[in-house]
Amino acid sequence: MKLAIIGSGNIGKSIGTWASMIGYEVIFSSKNLQHAQEAAKAAGNNSKSANVREAVGLAELVLLAVPYGAVKEVLSDAGPLLKDKVLIDATNALTDDYSGLKLGFTTSAAEEIQKLASGAKVVKAFNTVFADVYASRNPKIKGNKVSVFYAADDKEAKMKVADLISKMGFDAVDAGPLKAARNLEPMALLNIGLGYGLGNGTSIGFSFLR
Ligand SMILES: NC(=O)c1ccc[n+]([C@@H]2O[C@H](COP(=O)([O-])OP(=O)(O)OC[C@H]3O[C@@H](n4cnc5c(N)ncnc54)[C@H](OP(=O)(O)O)[C@@H]3O)[C@@H](O)[C@H]2O)c1
Repeated sequence: MKLAIIGSGNIGKSIGTWASMIGYEVIFSSKNLQHAQEAAKAAGNNSKSANVREAVGLAELVLLAVPYGAVKEVLSDAGPLLKDKVLIDATNALTDDYSGLKLGFTTSAAEEIQKLASGAKVVKAFNTVFADVYASRNPKIKGNKVSVFYAADDKEAKMKVADLISKMGFDAVDAGPLKAARNLEPMALLNIGLGYGLGNGTSIGFSFLR
């Protein structure tokens, strides 16, 4: 399975590297190609780098891991190439001081992304867990699997993303339709508040117990 990473920063690098270690063919891209090249080199054999359009063109799964403010630019460039592809949205539309979200209640970053990439099958995922947890490549905290929530309207797209999450060793939790991103995005804000605001650090995560 080929996975394109748009944005080779904290999230893109950590998830991309892990995915490559579990057998995905990963194509890193970023604004500055050098950052993608460095990410691919560090990730090893199963990975390479390309510009955003090339990376999207090659992959079946695409992870969107850029600041929300860059989404419009990225999708105006790569949007048409995303037709029928699974677009995993890990973004959080944070305010500049990280204290709130720029949108919510009546929409979500994921739903706005779906409007911009109308041919893609958008799946909200990975946004409620810190990059440090992905970078650690340890899906458990104190023996409990960390939950990685995902939400989407397309069943098959959901299954592909749930499969990636499970292969990484996390507890993949179906949070419902894409509209449920309205719940997952504030959850990321809670995570940030717990981690930074309340001093719990960035090696934390939610576990959904049934
Ligand atoms: N960090 C976390 O713990 C965390 C957790 C959950 C969700 N998120 C969300 O994930 C997203 C990424 O966060 P991050 O911490 O990984 O950010 P980051 O470290 O700042 O990395 C952002 C990446 O986006 C790339 N980028 C920016 N504009 C671009 C463009 N126009 N075209 C292509 N690539 C572009 C940058 O490219 P260059 O390297 O070339 O500058 C960089 O590689 C954000 O929406 C954030 O809210 C973050």
